[in-house]
Amino acid sequence: MKIIAPSILAADFSNLAQQIDMVNRSVAQWIHIDVMDGNFVPNITFGAKIIKTIRRLTDKTLDTHLMVLHPERYFEQFKEAGAGIITIHLEACTHLHRNVDKIKSLGLKAGVAINPHSNVMLLEDIIPYVDLVLIMSVNPGFGGQKFIENTYHKLEELQNLLAKRDSKAIVEVDGGVNIGNAGKLFAAGANVLVSGSAVFKASDPVRYIKELAMA
Ligand code: DX5
Ligand code: ZN
Repeated sequence: MKIIAPSILAADFSNLAQQIDMVNRSVAQWIHIDVMDGNFVPNITFGAKIIKTIRRLTDKTLDTHLMVLHPERYFEQFKEAGAGIITIHLEACTHLHRNVDKIKSLGLKAGVAINPHSNVMLLEDIIPYVDLVLIMSVNPGFGGQKFIENTYHKLEELQNLLAKRDSKAIVEVDGGVNIGNAGKLFAAGANVLVSGSAVFKASDPVRYIKELAMA
């Protein structure tokens, strides 16, 4: 499985409909939506209203990445707004298993994200319950950062863990992804690549997405 999820954080919001239309014309299967609360991460981005707006503009799966503390406060409203996947951070949850259960009970796919410093083995007891694991390849909070090379090591550890726990979870990588590292990431076991700046700054984003998908 090779899925590209353009991150809307890098889009030109003065032309949101046009930017989503570009994604619609591309081979991207998901749209990645970064929700930031100014607490878990320094930045503040968007919430249900924007998700709802994007939902009206596309049929693609809305992949919502919650970089927020107490994410459980938003599951229902994000489902109503049209999210298909809700991914929450291991580092932001005291009751991660309960939260994963809640997301799945709403009929959504549940993902767990880990920061660059968090060891993959911390996922051992949650991995049997999740649909997706998101490996952050930059520190969450901002687009346009440099890819952290240790990500490859984490992907290798994750493959071992998936095998050990007989998990079919989808593996997503987020941060600093571009045509220079996409092929290596897919080869290392990534199934979904999130790409923000590289896609939206490309001279031909539709073509760039295709190149990422074929990397
Ligand atoms: C970072 C976000 C990423 C970001 C990726 O906190 O989670 O999804 O939008 O953007 P680029 O591809 O620019 O690193
Ligand atoms: Zn993200």
